Amino acid sequence: MRVCSIVGARPQFVKAAIVSRKLRDVGEEVLVHTGQHYDEELSDVFFEELDIPEPEYNLGVESDTHGRQTAAMIDRLEPIVEAEDPDALLLYGDTNSTLAGAIVGSKRDLVVAHVEAGLRSDNRSMPEEINRILTDHAADLCFAPSEEAMVNLASEGVTDGVYCTGDVMYDAILEARDRSQRQSTILDELGVEPGEYVLATVHRASNTDDRSNLAAIVDGLADAPRPVIFPAHPRTVECLREYGLWDRATEHLEVIDPQGYLDFVRLLDGAERVATDSGGVQKEAFFLGTRCLTLRAETEWVETVECGWNRLIGPNRSRIREELRENWTPESNPHPYGDGTAGRRIVQLLEDHLQTDEATPAV
Ligand code: UD1
Ligand code: UDP
Repeated sequence: MRVCSIVGARPQFVKAAIVSRKLRDVGEEVLVHTGQHYDEELSDVFFEELDIPEPEYNLGVESDTHGRQTAAMIDRLEPIVEAEDPDALLLYGDTNSTLAGAIVGSKRDLVVAHVEAGLRSDNRSMPEEINRILTDHAADLCFAPSEEAMVNLASEGVTDGVYCTGDVMYDAILEARDRSQRQSTILDELGVEPGEYVLATVHRASNTDDRSNLAAIVDGLADAPRPVIFPAHPRTVECLREYGLWDRATEHLEVIDPQGYLDFVRLLDGAERVATDSGGVQKEAFFLGTRCLTLRAETEWVETVECGWNRLIGPNRSRIREELRENWTPESNPHPYGDGTAGRRIVQLLEDHLQTDEATPAV
């Protein structure tokens, strides 16, 4: 089997690291990096730490308006797919890189497989929600991380080629946790003790592109009863500067560069709680047993809220302030995201599907 995998943004590198390794054990992979994330700390560091093979292609698309960025990815990806002639295109998550892959794959009538299928926030103003819906509907194979995601797909009539595999980020955390405890020195470097700081990340468009939301988050976090470590996405840094919030943020928060995966996992593991608008971080907090305050009104990772590890508090200053002080004990510790073998299952299902496809005579 020959599979072309498309990645482009930070969380996709983490997911692909798990699947790529399994894929290369049994078949051939052509790895394509769209270039959506290009800064060293948002891209190269993940390839090095997670031992992801050097991409065969980098489309070099970089940042632009969403339409132009997606169009440039489609334009540059199609000739590569044509030349490489893979049996399938493998896509991850919900970024513009995912959507570009879905369009190229389905237009060329290739088998399109989507890892992390079926997630819904039910907020259609989120660019990622549209990317997810379109990708799931274009895909031939949907690999859902949870039963809830299966239900979402079924409710939209997507039932063929749908499998509940568990979540590849759970596989990733199981590998990274011990490694990060052994190798990372980030807590010493920052001079913080486990359990005595809050970790925060913000990058969602609804929070960064709206000055009042970003100001409310900064002010809410600034009132925290313990130090706040804030690895800031470049998008957030730009907005903090543009809105005149930079001094306020750096006066009260420990604003640091985006971290590599191992240092970030160490920070998350050791945090008293995390405040975030990231999808991946909500889930990783749950896996590591760190309580999470989500700086959004809704989430696609609903299981984390249902079992009490995650609270949806939105970008609301007083709510952030209150929730950072409130002590709560999560009610239960279920395992809705599989057993840490999602990567292996995905590769097996892909292989089975491609063999069946080959054996089925064209009508
Ligand atoms: C993208 C994804 C989002 C994902 C996130 C992971 C879409 C629509 N959004 O958001 O779903 O959660 O990645 O982090 O696909 N920038 C840099 N250096 C980089 C990359 C970006 O400085 O290497 C800055 C640029 O100013 C750019 C801005 O960040 O305009 C936003 O980058 P972009 O890739 O469009 O979206 P993200 O916010 O990173
Ligand atoms: N992450 C990281 N360093 C950071 C912030 C996040 O390694 O400074 C990792 C995090 O552990 C998770 C992924 O990046 O695996 C989440 O990416 P992000 O929050 O950018 O995107 P989302 O998950 O919201 O799409």
